[in-house]
Amino acid sequence: ESEVRALVESKLATIPDFPEPGVVFRDLTPVFADGPAFHALAEALTTPFAGRFDVLAGVEARGFLLAGAASALCGAGVLPVRKAGKLPRAVIREEYALEYGTAALEVHEGELPPGSRVLIVDDVLATGGTVDAAARLVERAGWRVAGISVAIELEALDGRARLGDRYEIRSLLQF
Ligand code: PRP
Ligand code: HPA
Repeated sequence: ESEVRALVESKLATIPDFPEPGVVFRDLTPVFADGPAFHALAEALTTPFAGRFDVLAGVEARGFLLAGAASALCGAGVLPVRKAGKLPRAVIREEYALEYGTAALEVHEGELPPGSRVLIVDDVLATGGTVDAAARLVERAGWRVAGISVAIELEALDGRARLGDRYEIRSLLQF
């Protein structure tokens, strides 16, 4: 895993003062653009949870890329966790706090068999609001959270503390 970590970190871009002054933005797009780095990252997200999940939940938008790539490598299907208003059938919705106001995530009810074990995948764990909402959705839908797997954890934002010890949380890189 340390080789994968070094490869991904070597491609990662770090942008000071984006999207606003004082924020140091970690940008994975150069990792996505590099075949071997993207492949290694997608694989590293699921291997620690091997045999313990049935489906990957990808959180819109960047989580879609990671869950899709990981799905092709490990053979599990993808549950798209979408921003509100995009899904055409009956949904379950969870609101979560943004810096200003709220946003909401949705899944189709009944999309997976009851009790399905869902591994939640995203690019960045910051405050944890996004994956917390995704986990609430999975549980309200009657499925189980197998774990939370992210590429990057921004430790100063305390997402892990917010999520508590309900789930196994893994991050490849920590800043
Ligand atoms: C970003 C990122 C995570 C989330 C992390 O997504 O991709 O999903 O924020 O922040 P949090 O831990 O504080 O919730 P964003 O909402 O910007 O959406 P995008 O992927 O569509 O750009
Ligand atoms: N990078 C990408 N997404 C994010 C970040 C970041 O630094 N912080 C919150 N969401």
